[in-house]
Amino acid sequence: MRKLSEQLKETTEFLKEKGFGAVDFGLILGSGLGELADEIENPIAIPFAEIPHFTVSTVVGHAGKLVYGTLSGKKVMAMQGRFHYYEGHSMQKVTYPVRVMSALGVHSLVVTNAAGGVNENFTPGNLMLITDHINFTGDNPLIGENEDDMGPRFPDMSHAYTAAYGEVAKKVAEKQKIDLQEGVYMGYSGPTYETPAEIRMSRTLGADAVGMSTVSEVIVAAHCGLKVLGISCITNLAAGMQSSLNHEEVVETTERVKVQFKELIKATLVEL
Ligand code: 6GU
Repeated sequence: MRKLSEQLKETTEFLKEKGFGAVDFGLILGSGLGELADEIENPIAIPFAEIPHFTVSTVVGHAGKLVYGTLSGKKVMAMQGRFHYYEGHSMQKVTYPVRVMSALGVHSLVVTNAAGGVNENFTPGNLMLITDHINFTGDNPLIGENEDDMGPRFPDMSHAYTAAYGEVAKKVAEKQKIDLQEGVYMGYSGPTYETPAEIRMSRTLGADAVGMSTVSEVIVAAHCGLKVLGISCITNLAAGMQSSLNHEEVVETTERVKVQFKELIKATLVEL
């Protein structure tokens, strides 16, 4: 396989030719949360399928575009939809967009997702500030030879989620009267939802929410030295906490809270 740095050069040159310029914030918009990208001013939107070295996302509800422009007065590039490990992509492929963001000059990543609530105090529709994660996927995007110009062999994950950004989000939520929960996100590979026994295990291990994304992207963000703000939308309670689970409920809940979600992210971006 070609060196990562060579692939990145091709991708970033392509995006610059399309008009991508200076950029400070990368956004990854999860299941049902992609509408925020529609609010980007003077947008340049490119389908993932057209971008060199990107793969294509197959999940319904993921538009699959990279959008560059201005949001809340900040230069941003947003993934409207993302790649998932359960689609069969390697973690290197799933996280390639984070590398691209970093190569284009992004210093901070806002990562969002739909997640199942594990904490008994959570209610579907809650938003949760991700304070930390547990990588339970059984894989890691940094496995393999390390390109030392990309980042360290053994990255520190002590501050993967930037505490100062979390504080800003909490203040904004308070001002907006949004009941923002906080907690630990545990990443599973999917595509199955967990069993009730797995959810009891997750709770015992310290998880507040579970999902099928985000951890690999945040690992690569840490490798690149990016600051991270993570927000989960708790779309449902996890297995054993409600009668059954389905993707429709995930979509319905994101639909219901997307205005709140968008307002929280936009107002937080202003302050970052
Ligand atoms: Cl319960 N589990 C996982 N892994 N992902 C989810 C979920 C549950 N609910 C929404 N996304």
